[in-house]
Amino acid sequence: MTTQKTVIPITELEQSAFCQTEGNLRTKTLEEEFRAGVRWQKVPTRYLKLSVAELDRGIAEARTALGKTTIVLGHHYQREDIIKYADFRGDSYKLSKMAAQTRDARVIVFCGVHFMAETADILAGPDQTVILPNMAAGCSMADMARTDDAEDCWSDLASVLGGAPGEIIPVTYMNSTAAIKALCGRNGGLVCTSSNAAEAFKWAFARGRRILFLPDQHLGRNTGFQMGIPLDEMVLWSPFRPMGGLTPDQIRKAKVILWQGHCSVHTRFTVEQINLAREQNPGVSVLVHPECTLDVIRAADLNGSTEFIAKTIGAAPAGSVWAVGTEINLVNRLAHEYPDKKIFCLDPIVCPCATMYRIHPAYLLWVLEGLMTGLVINRVHVSEPVRGQALLALERMLEVGG
Ligand code: 13P
Ligand code: SF4
Repeated sequence: MTTQKTVIPITELEQSAFCQTEGNLRTKTLEEEFRAGVRWQKVPTRYLKLSVAELDRGIAEARTALGKTTIVLGHHYQREDIIKYADFRGDSYKLSKMAAQTRDARVIVFCGVHFMAETADILAGPDQTVILPNMAAGCSMADMARTDDAEDCWSDLASVLGGAPGEIIPVTYMNSTAAIKALCGRNGGLVCTSSNAAEAFKWAFARGRRILFLPDQHLGRNTGFQMGIPLDEMVLWSPFRPMGGLTPDQIRKAKVILWQGHCSVHTRFTVEQINLAREQNPGVSVLVHPECTLDVIRAADLNGSTEFIAKTIGAAPAGSVWAVGTEINLVNRLAHEYPDKKIFCLDPIVCPCATMYRIHPAYLLWVLEGLMTGLVINRVHVSEPVRGQALLALERMLEVGG
């Protein structure tokens, strides 16, 4: 076990970079967007000044030239000027299945964040290449579980619980690095997403007494709570404190040990926002993502993955009113697609996920033009042994379904 000082991921410090009150998320030239205080990947200067219309033309031409050899996947949180080029859009579960099944495209351009591109690479065929248009598109929650901290945690837990199989099963949320997925794979655990966390918990409890859940404490707590696990049987593991800040007795009594990670976008939603939405909109339904805190989940009417949110609102009757607690690009898109329903974000401040937002169309054009000249820019590749071990954990996830 090692002790270390608190390390706040840089991506979390950058999370508010694009927040604004006037709600205008119109894409600007990359040069203008560079003014936001985040780290951007360097890109050849010719891409900096291209207008949205020029980027649009360039991307359309590149897509036509590349044809079916290249497929573009887009996560629901991508901005409109990216999602319009996506061949498929979805939540992390749907997109990972897409990557595992789409065998005819030689190149998968993943418009999402780094852990999603890593997962696509692990699930894709050996002759397929995965590209992330901007390598600075990470995830602040995934950054909260560093490999060495997770390895330390795992060996600390073994020192308390003994190494017998079935004492503890590691389960990681998709929003984690390939190395954390590998830790789960080689120790009899699995990956889950927000659309199959309950199934993953059932799978794990069929094989072991307790779960270590990384890195989102909220998804872990919400899932456990909805399955009837008492709150005092779910404890928080701090990577910054010796033995996670827990006593051996607390560890032995726990059913779920939650890694102390969170999503800075979803922890912005509050019960006060829900109360206000109800006061101002009689008959409103409140629908939130399970990365929100437990008090928000309990106050909401429904919770589920981004795909669940999109499908639920899509199937709702005309005239229904929805207050949504998830990333603003998805909320705005739903409001635009269903003008016959009233759909708004719980948070009055417009705050896109600052890492998802870094996939600007200029980066997409850059990697597509690279492919046209035979150049692979920004390949995301996971090598052995991490690849094989992470694949095990992902295959178990695909078996439990979603
Ligand atoms: P989904 O699996 O619901 O798409 O969630 C991914 C994510 O990053 C939410 O913050
Ligand atoms: Fe990560 Fe949160 Fe952004 Fe999802 S919304 S990619 S969990 S930082």
